[in-house]
Amino acid sequence: MPIIAPSLLSSNFLRLEEECKMLNESEADWFHLDVMDGRFVPNISFGFPIIEHIRKATTKICDVHLMILEPERYAEAFKAAGADQLSVHIEACVHLHRNIQQIKSLDMKAGVAINPHTPVSLLQDVLGDIDLVCMMSVNPGFGGQKFIPRTLDKITELRRMIDDNKLNVLIEVDGGVTIENAGAIIDAGAHALVAGNTVFKSSDPTKTISQLKHIR
Ligand code: DX5
Ligand code: ZN
Repeated sequence: MPIIAPSLLSSNFLRLEEECKMLNESEADWFHLDVMDGRFVPNISFGFPIIEHIRKATTKICDVHLMILEPERYAEAFKAAGADQLSVHIEACVHLHRNIQQIKSLDMKAGVAINPHTPVSLLQDVLGDIDLVCMMSVNPGFGGQKFIPRTLDKITELRRMIDDNKLNVLIEVDGGVTIENAGAIIDAGAHALVAGNTVFKSSDPTKTISQLKHIR
């Protein structure tokens, strides 16, 4: 069964406590938390205070997706705020290997996020050092965008790289995941599904999470 990671970017921030409670009681596995700086991506989301509150409201894994430049300046602060896993964008890191070591030294799982235009082959020399690839299936910055179909081939290629080298790396697919395309994404080789709008804009988010969980 896939790992389900609802993205709280699409949740109702005025009712964050209830949203967390709903996720706690659902089949969701991870809380996906999208941090945007208005520089790496053309949008600003939320930061430490919100993550600290969410941390207090759940014991599930806090999966933090950094869409920020110079993420090394903030890794320690995200650990302190409660992140269990921290993903940095390959396109935002000049010294990616060093950044990964930093995240691991802070005792978090290390993830690398890649944009739709970035070839998965660029991950080859760090794949053995990381726990997670956050494969963007939309251009990062906003919830509710359309899934880019080409991502399916990228998932398959990355999964082959992981399996051929007998590595223990999870593929998380992020952006435009729906009930309709989730099966194909899993079949292509993904382990984890991020879902923002599909979960939080549905009439029954708990049921939608369950549907995603049991898609295969
Ligand atoms: C986009 C974020 C995603 C986003 C997903 O930049 O990284 O996590 O919240 O939202 P949906 O599922 O609505 O595309
Ligand atoms: Zn994300």
